[in-house]
Amino acid sequence: MKTPWLSFLILPFLSSLGAEDGLGPKVTKPKKARLPKIKEENNILVLKKSNFDRALKETKYLLVEFYISLSGPSQTLAEEFAKAAGQLKKEAPGIRFGKVDITDQKDLKKEFNIQEFPTVKFFVDGNRKNPIDCKGVREASAFITWVRRRIGPSTVVINSTDQAEAIINSEDLAVIGFFKTSVKIFDVPVENHILLFTPKNSETFHKTYEDYKSAAVEFRGKIMFILVDTNETRNGRVFEYFRITEIDVPAVRILNLTSDAKYKMPADEVTVENLRSFCHSYLGGKAKPHVSSEEIPEDWDKNPVKVLVGKNFNRVTFNKTKNVFVMFYAPWSHDCRKLLPIWDELGKKYEHHENIVIAKIDFTANDIQLVMLDRYPFFRFFPVGSNNQVVVYDGEYTLEAFAEFLEKQSKPKAEATKKPPSGESKEDLTEEETVIKQKEEL
Ligand SMILES: *[C@@H]1O[C@H](CO)[C@@H](O)[C@H](O)[C@H]1NC(C)=O
Ligand SMILES: *[C@@H]1O[C@H](CO)[C@@H](O)[C@H](O)[C@H]1NC(C)=O
Ligand SMILES: *[C@@H]1O[C@H](CO)[C@@H](O)[C@H](O)[C@H]1NC(C)=O
Ligand SMILES: *[C@@H]1O[C@H](CO)[C@@H](O)[C@H](O)[C@H]1NC(C)=O
Repeated sequence: MKTPWLSFLILPFLSSLGAEDGLGPKVTKPKKARLPKIKEENNILVLKKSNFDRALKETKYLLVEFYISLSGPSQTLAEEFAKAAGQLKKEAPGIRFGKVDITDQKDLKKEFNIQEFPTVKFFVDGNRKNPIDCKGVREASAFITWVRRRIGPSTVVINSTDQAEAIINSEDLAVIGFFKTSVKIFDVPVENHILLFTPKNSETFHKTYEDYKSAAVEFRGKIMFILVDTNETRNGRVFEYFRITEIDVPAVRILNLTSDAKYKMPADEVTVENLRSFCHSYLGGKAKPHVSSEEIPEDWDKNPVKVLVGKNFNRVTFNKTKNVFVMFYAPWSHDCRKLLPIWDELGKKYEHHENIVIAKIDFTANDIQLVMLDRYPFFRFFPVGSNNQVVVYDGEYTLEAFAEFLEKQSKPKAEATKKPPSGESKEDLTEEETVIKQKEEL
């Protein structure tokens, strides 16, 4: 049997820090007709004139390689591309990779004005008209970093284009940013970002900024120095991501874009010396990632929905006897607040279930090393006895859909992951099953 409940046309829930609000109500609706999935090879969608439009519609972020099947450079790129596609597919189902063989897709070649092979273009929000060129990226890890930068919290919003340009012109500081009006991207292949959070209008700004610029010189090409003006309300989402409050500033953090780990500068004062030693200890692998957690509430397990925080998260979710279904929410998000009562109902429904636990976690107050790309709220299922296995929920946000998902996922393992009957190809598996399968193959 095919898994009937999950439509493959799942809208991704990705947000970028720069998005104006990024939190609009996006309750997914399953598609009426169930078209066959677009064919994939090595986690890469095989795109043609006939399915290109559909792929764009179904995928918020689509990175497409235009290639010639027999060319050497295309082959090399294809392998790296597949590696990156596999990794991101597991982490963030909203990002997909596709490929177009232009030897037979002449129309697409013409439409996108492909002159060199291979060429890689990035399509956002189904926009067919203005893909972003992904130039000079050839390795799997670089593709991942490149994509993350364009969609993830690693992008930094800076007040205005003028401001950004001023910073860039100051040479030692580089900025990657999504700006409200246009998207400006400065392609610097640096996976480490250091961010200084400070109000530009403070008395000490000038001195702090001079020190920051001086320190930047030594780390050019290794760590990208970014300034975030905390006197600009629109940068709020960035502070939140780094859990910076007004009281903390000036604050300095390093972000490793590849691992998403954050590091806090141990010293309070922003001086050249402190910045240098922080950067050196980070590059030398000596800095400890910054983890924050709320205290475990006394009544965390007294209600049908269990309350998770950083400190009890692993213990509860990776449990040998329980399936745990977790809602990640942000208290300020309207969508989350609307869904919490539904989540409570789900909790009540399974309150006395022998092996299902319904839980929630305030993701803004607790650092959990999970994929950070989702839009709030988002949901993850931690199967019984799992070792770091996580199943992404991307169905509808209704009690019925949640319950149906749970029933299916909490079936005994042997049954849930049994081999598809012959004649059914791998493409027929749903996203979830593929994720599980890949994990089991590891
Ligand atoms: C950018 O910030 C400056 C102050 O730092 C402010 O005067 C200006 O209005 C801001 N620009 C925009 C576009 O908001
Ligand atoms: C920015 O600074 C001005 C002047 O000090 C202050 O009135 C305003 O509230 C500040 N805005 C933010 C968002 O901190
Ligand atoms: C950044 O993270 C990646 C992936 O975990 C790791 O390989 C790399 O060493 C990290 N960089 C630094 C400087 O710690
Ligand atoms: C798993 O959950 C049960 C019930 O909540 C709990 O009693 C048990 O201690 C947990 N197991 C571990 C290893 O924490």
